[in-house]
Amino acid sequence: MKKVRVSLGKKRSYDIVIGYKIASNYLEKLIKKLGLGNEAAVITNPAIHSIHRNAIKGFLKRLKANAATIKIPDRETSKSNRQVIKIIESIVKVDKGRGLFIIAFGGGVVGDTGGFVASIYKRGVPYIQIPTTLLAQVDSAIGGKVAIDLTSAKNLVGAFYQPRLVISDISILRSLPSRQIRSGLAEIIKYGIIKDKRLFKFLERNIKDILKLKRDPLEYVIYRSSKIKAAYVKADERDTKGIRAQLNFGHTIGHAIEAASRYSKLYSHGEAIAIGMIAASEIAVKMGLLKRPSLERITNLIKKGGLPTTISRGLDIKKIMKAQLYDKKIIHGVNRFILPVRIGKANIYEKIPKRLISEVIKNRCA
Ligand SMILES: NC(=O)c1ccc[n+]([C@@H]2O[C@H](COP(=O)([O-])OP(=O)(O)OC[C@H]3O[C@@H](n4cnc5c(N)ncnc54)[C@H](O)[C@@H]3O)[C@@H](O)[C@H]2O)c1
Ligand SMILES: [Zn+2]
Repeated sequence: MKKVRVSLGKKRSYDIVIGYKIASNYLEKLIKKLGLGNEAAVITNPAIHSIHRNAIKGFLKRLKANAATIKIPDRETSKSNRQVIKIIESIVKVDKGRGLFIIAFGGGVVGDTGGFVASIYKRGVPYIQIPTTLLAQVDSAIGGKVAIDLTSAKNLVGAFYQPRLVISDISILRSLPSRQIRSGLAEIIKYGIIKDKRLFKFLERNIKDILKLKRDPLEYVIYRSSKIKAAYVKADERDTKGIRAQLNFGHTIGHAIEAASRYSKLYSHGEAIAIGMIAASEIAVKMGLLKRPSLERITNLIKKGGLPTTISRGLDIKKIMKAQLYDKKIIHGVNRFILPVRIGKANIYEKIPKRLISEVIKNRCA
């Protein structure tokens, strides 16, 4: 079992606990230590519930908390105001006023929605994250960004609201489809490129074993990624200093690819940002910031990770360019890109010429 501390002062600091079978073996001890309350609302979805029903039942029993399990539909559109009100109506039924806390047991959709509900129910109740996807374990469950979507844009209504604990149980990932594993892997590769050349090298050597969910290398990369994310969150909790923004490496063009495919299942988030990371690295090479062999290493690792390197499924380049113009990183009409200068370091650059952006997007279209 490994621990990473997210240090945010006395009141908002918390641990990320990473290990094998910790949800079933240690959860109640960890929760009790925090003294969160006597009533628990577990938010999950039917698919995850049907696989992990016994684990949920087991830890709720041992917690001896009055508990409700609330299932939300398994799709991005669950991050909605309607769903939030439905969840709250279910919570009200179990809340007897003896201290209620929320457990978000699922991927990023459950985590973002559950965390958002925790931030607004009774003006804020404690919550813990038990991320069940690799992406959620290394990214979305850490850092307190909670949000729901509007039809006009994703994550438009939200808050910064930190969990009291994150439990990343590697054994839960065994049931995760391999496409979802690869999607989370893309974020891990991102951490290597922007911050940690040793992590990058480790991935180059061990990626096949990680894809097979071998315990030690998987635990190591989740631990390193959590540590890196925690450091960014500590340095720039509210994403106002241009530090946390570095985590958006690959996401400008990545989000444009997702938006151009209208968030259909055509590209998972990780697949889209894998292409986005290569495109951003190509911009860096063209601007003389990054050496070509580094771009080749990045492209090779992404390939080895079973992620796409080109847009080969008939996406319209004009649509991608247009979507890219609406990226939230564009401030007062000035675009911003996170570009690697070497493996393990990236900086923020503004006013990247449009010509360069469209050139690299065209390059990515097979
Ligand atoms: N808050 C943040 O900082 C942050 C960061 C990145 C992404 N996000 C958000 O996260 C969401 C995406 O999260 P995601 O990639 O985890 O997707 P997801 O929550 O949709 O989960 C992906 C799929 O995996 C299934 N699943 C989850 N755990 C499983 C398990 N252990 N076994 C079998 N199936 C399982 C889910 O039912 C779902 O079908 C998006 O809404 C995105 O906006 C938030
Ligand atoms: Zn991402």
